[in-house]
Amino acid sequence: MLNKDFTVTPWYVEGAIDYNKLIKQFGTERISENILYRLEKITGDIHFMLKRGIFFSHRDLHKILDVYEQNNKFFVYTGRGPSGNTHIGHLIPWILTKWIQDKFNTNVYFQLSDDEKFFANKNITLSTTSRFAYENAIDFIALGFKPNNTKIIINTKNINNLYPLTCQIAKKINLSNVKAVFGFTNDTNIGMIFYTALQSAPCFIENKPVLIPLGIDQDPHFRITRDIAPKIGKIKPAIIHGMMMPSLLGINSKMSTSQKNSVIYTTDSPNIVKNKINKYAFSGGQSDIKMHRKKGGDPSVDIAYQYMHMFFEPDDKKLKKIHDDYISGRLLTGELKSMTITKINEFLEKHQHRRDEAVKHIDEYVLQ
Ligand code: TRP
Repeated sequence: MLNKDFTVTPWYVEGAIDYNKLIKQFGTERISENILYRLEKITGDIHFMLKRGIFFSHRDLHKILDVYEQNNKFFVYTGRGPSGNTHIGHLIPWILTKWIQDKFNTNVYFQLSDDEKFFANKNITLSTTSRFAYENAIDFIALGFKPNNTKIIINTKNINNLYPLTCQIAKKINLSNVKAVFGFTNDTNIGMIFYTALQSAPCFIENKPVLIPLGIDQDPHFRITRDIAPKIGKIKPAIIHGMMMPSLLGINSKMSTSQKNSVIYTTDSPNIVKNKINKYAFSGGQSDIKMHRKKGGDPSVDIAYQYMHMFFEPDDKKLKKIHDDYISGRLLTGELKSMTITKINEFLEKHQHRRDEAVKHIDEYVLQ
């Protein structure tokens, strides 16, 4: 969707994203207090990413809760376009996916669209995207999904599972639909033009309602899916939209796999994390200590604080203390960065162990 100040499309995100404007432009609904209340009643707690509004918007989430309350089943679907190594921003929707699976006892499908990234990027080969598909699958599995209720779909490998559904969908999407939604032109390759049908297919892989946690940049695909669902006798997919994790360089730039120094990869060593945060993480602090003590810092633009808020400090009380201390000037930028480095490295140390284990089990997850 093009806009003066920011751009959010499935293949391109730039600028200072105004999430309130996106809700209006995309025509989604804000996650209301009432939905949070219903979620809490069912699950016994609310994931901090929901409570803090990291997941802030939805389509038909209330219908999924109705389904569940009527003792019917739904399933969960999400995915990743493998164009590089996994960074911590990718994990956000997957973490919520795991939480939903645990709380609602659902099946999960994870699509790795190696075809998509091959179509979308001039300079990447299909063997590279397929290699990254396995690399990304390791991170997904490492979050604790189990093979009995979780399946990974690698598009180029599992096309036989997807193709009949993809055909049903593709027949209902015409060129002007995808031109209108994605801004495609006569130069766009036909792989891209067809691709939405492939990303839609797993929505209907089970004959039950589906819930899709995703970064809001992916919503346009499913707007199309929702339009055509009734035409092929299917239920419209429901969606939970998350914010994009900003890059180290500042809140107005999304983490991108290709900018090595602006993102933290799941495989980064403790020292690399330390150097990246210290050197690159944009600070909301003042220019020197004296000024900082006097005026305090601004957590709303401080990347270390934002990472704590979005991901690494789930404890609300601790986060509030960091927030208040930073604003008052009691907490210095260097101290905040150092706390953040510790938190990220604690997470990554565990994650990297689970990755080593996950490598051995990939085949159990990939659809056969
Ligand atoms: N297009 C997504 C990306 O570029 C990958 C993807 C495939 C996906 N299926 C999905 C994302 C379903 C969210 C939900 O990363």
